[in-house]
Amino acid sequence: MAEVIALAADHGGFELKNLLAEKLAEWGYEPLDLGTYSTDSVDYPDMAAKMADAIKAGKAERGVLVCGTGIGISIAANRFPFIRAALIHDAFGARLCREHNNANVIVFGGRTTGVEVAYDCLNTFLNTQFAGGRHARRVEKLSHLV
Ligand code: RB5
Repeated sequence: MAEVIALAADHGGFELKNLLAEKLAEWGYEPLDLGTYSTDSVDYPDMAAKMADAIKAGKAERGVLVCGTGIGISIAANRFPFIRAALIHDAFGARLCREHNNANVIVFGGRTTGVEVAYDCLNTFLNTQFAGGRHARRVEKLSHLV
């Protein structure tokens, strides 16, 4: 069965989110598009909350978030203790956010990252395993900071 990958974006990430959803389907995943569904202005915290709801409900284990820079939606997503969202600009970061941080959400800036770079990063993110070991101890500590 195809893995479900949830996607959400604000208006600044709308176009890139749609392209990434198409690419995920092409790669054999099942994209779960949580919106936004037009270029009308929406607030990025609301879109991050939709991702959190989907992950909490078990609709997807991994997700993709996009806003204009990726910054606001990352800040919002990381307020949820079960989300480790990584704002990524290159494949090195995409690999390390999985190996070291066990990131479950990858974040892009729709106005800062080109689509081919985003495809490359997303592919790396999806196909890299968490390394565990000393990194597991550190990731565990993230859950006990507050
Ligand atoms: C919306 O204009 C913009 O602020 C948003 O997409 C994002 O870049 C925020 O961090």
